[in-house]
This record gives sequence, structure tokens and C-alpha cells, in this order.
Amino acid sequence: MRNSETAISIKNLTKFYKKFQALDDVSFEVKRGDFFAFLGPNGAGKTTTINCLTGLSNYQNGDVRIFGYDVTADYLHSRRLIGLCAQEFNFDPFLSIYQLLVYQAQYFGITPGEAKRRSNALLERFGLTDKRNCKHRALSGGMKKRLLLCRALIHDPEILILDEPTAGCDLELKFLIWDYLAQLNKEGKTIFLTTHYMEEAERLCKTIGIINHGRIVHIGDKKYILQDRSLEEIFLEITGSE
Ligand SMILES: Nc1ncnc2c1ncn2[C@@H]1O[C@H](COP(=O)(O)OP(=O)(O)OP(=O)(O)O)[C@@H](O)[C@H]1O
Ligand SMILES: [Mg+2]
Repeated sequence: MRNSETAISIKNLTKFYKKFQALDDVSFEVKRGDFFAFLGPNGAGKTTTINCLTGLSNYQNGDVRIFGYDVTADYLHSRRLIGLCAQEFNFDPFLSIYQLLVYQAQYFGITPGEAKRRSNALLERFGLTDKRNCKHRALSGGMKKRLLLCRALIHDPEILILDEPTAGCDLELKFLIWDYLAQLNKEGKTIFLTTHYMEEAERLCKTIGIINHGRIVHIGDKKYILQDRSLEEIFLEITGSE
């Protein structure tokens, strides 16, 4: 990994879906070790930004880097540094959840023995051991969320990107995920999450970025953002969209 203090760097990112402009000249940075909450109403461009960061979407203009690695030119390096917990479930339907994790580990070049050890440890950590031989469709919604997290963490990434990680989770699971994310951040992982829950952003993060209609409207230290009354309208919109 390059010795960069900037975990995520996005400059002048512009993305069109055909003629529709989803991202309009988006620029911001996330520092190594930050806990960054990306807020914005439905359709603001959060998932699109994540897709550009992780190589799932192309873009028409911009410079996007993970620890200095360009996400298109240096895709393999940049992708290896990210653990992605996507907004939607996208698991292979034919594999047991244990196999899913072992395969995912091996995509990242982890040896079979280590892949099995990590898979077992993560399943245990997230209370899924008794479901290890089930296919993902036999899991409840909250269990699938936990499986997404296990898969994102399997290669011990430097940055964890989570797209609404606690949407649809009960309180107990929400607290478990919050504790786990806070612990990972304490250990030095950079965390980038999107959420519609102000409480989640307030409790966990250090920095908040707000996007609306594909443009960054505010970014900065949580303390200042939460005090900024001019942002109330957008906060209301975010809270209203829960
Ligand atoms: N594959 C696609 N093709 C066409 N338009 C898309 C596609 N994906 C997203 N969009 C559009 O881009 C805009 C931004 O969508 P995006 O999914 O990034 O929003 P979001 O901020 O993640 O919203 P949410 O909070 O609902 O998840 C929306 O208007 C959406 O309809
Ligand atoms: Mg989204």
C-alpha cells in the first residue's frame, strides 16, 4: 500500500447514466483512519459514488483514488484495499454462506487454510455459525446484512465502505454493528458509510459529507455540520426518507 494519508480522493467526478447526470463535479477527500458518514436524500448519488469508488460503475470525468491508487488504472491494487458492504444483496444463490466467504477470500489470494479460518471466525463473530451450511436465501434480512459484513471483512481491507449497513436491522443488530464498526475504526480502519439515520452518523462518525442532486453541498467535522442551521432542510429531507 502506498504511504498515503488520504484514504479516498475524489476530484471532479462526473457521472451520467445515459443523459441523466447523477454526479456533478464531486470532489472530496477522506483521511486515513476517518469515520466518514455520507448523507443525502434518496437518489442524491451516494450509491453511485460508491460504485465509482469500487469499480462497479464507470464515469465520464474525474480522478478517483484509493490510497493513491487510481480506481481504473490501478484497479487491482485499489479494489484489494476496500471491503464493500453493498446496499443490495448480491450473493451467489448456489453456495452455502460458508462457501461464499471462503470463495470471496480466495478471490483476494488468501490461502485455503486461512480462508477457512477467517470464514469460521467471522461467522462466529456475527452469530451465523449455525447457519453456515445454509444458502443465503434461507437467512432472514438481518442475517443477510450480517453476511454482507462478513464478506466485506474477509480480506481484512484497509477501508470499509458500507452502503446503509443498518437499514432494516433490529435494535440489537444495529447496536452490534455500531460497536463492531467503532472497534474497527479504533483499530485504524477507515470507514465510509451512507445512512439515513442521523443518530448513526452522530454517534459513530468524525466527518460528515452531504450530497444532494449529485453535488456535494457540505462537508466537514461532525460538530460543525450538525450545528449548521442552514442544513436543516436537507436533514429534514434525509430523516423524512427513513
Ligand atoms: N443504473 C442506473 N441507471 C440509470 N439511472 C440510475 C442508475 N443507478 C442510479 N441511477 C439514478 O441516479 C440517481 C442517484 O442514484 P443513487 O442510487 O446513487 O442514489 P442514492 O443516494 O444511493 O439513493 P438511496 O438513498 O435511495 O439509496 C438516481 O436518480 C437514480 O435513479
Ligand atoms: Mg443508495
